[in-house]
Amino acid sequence: MALYRERVLPHLVDLACGSPALGRWRAEVAAGLAGTVVEVGFGSGLNLGHYPPEVARILAVEPAATARRIAARRIAAARVPVEHVGLDGHSLGLDDASCDAALSTFTLCTLRDPMAALAELRRVLRTGGKLHALEHGLSPDPSVARWQHRLDPLQRKLADGCHLTRDPLAMLRDAGFLLERADQAYGAGPKPWTFFTLAVASSPAARGTPQGGPPG
Ligand SMILES: C[S@@+](CC[C@H](N)C(=O)[O-])C[C@H]1O[C@@H](n2cnc3c(N)ncnc32)[C@H](O)[C@@H]1O
Repeated sequence: MALYRERVLPHLVDLACGSPALGRWRAEVAAGLAGTVVEVGFGSGLNLGHYPPEVARILAVEPAATARRIAARRIAAARVPVEHVGLDGHSLGLDDASCDAALSTFTLCTLRDPMAALAELRRVLRTGGKLHALEHGLSPDPSVARWQHRLDPLQRKLADGCHLTRDPLAMLRDAGFLLERADQAYGAGPKPWTFFTLAVASSPAARGTPQGGPPG
């Protein structure tokens, strides 16, 4: 199973997630990113071609060595410098408030503890920094949701812990992000896997952090 997860799955994800139809969603979620961006679950670098010119550098977090190897040629061809800064989105080796933005695509579904990872993203984002997220998740249609619940155990086994039944918007809200954009629609393909959420959320000031400048 480790061989499948480490060596085979990253190639399958690269194929399945690299379709032109998904490319349009990727372009849409990357629009507006700027400055230093941390990308959690960087995978094989399928978002690289979609980062806008305002992005100065990308800090990539990705545990799968095979995915990092596939990403290497995309990184070499990219306009923007990419630095691998860690293996685990639950514990980022980055300073507080050191990033202008964050990107997660199809990763909140897989993270073992997405709330812990979102708390880490809030920590490393500066106040007002944006998290852009493109995720698949639980459909509001009861018949699709029923299938998602049925298929979830198998999906988790075959896709390294990927859940079909997570609710990205609820997770972002519960993590304390302020939603600025939330679009949901079915993409191309079977509905249990393609109910997509495209969200942009900002990181509010931490509790107790002064909001304005010094008085008077
Ligand atoms: C479905 S893939 C999506 C990859 C990429 N974001 C994309 O859109 O093509 C989920 C990714 O999350 C990564 N991942 C799993 N656990 C992780 C963790 N604890 N921290 C960071 N990334 C993780 C996986 O290795 C995989 O690359």
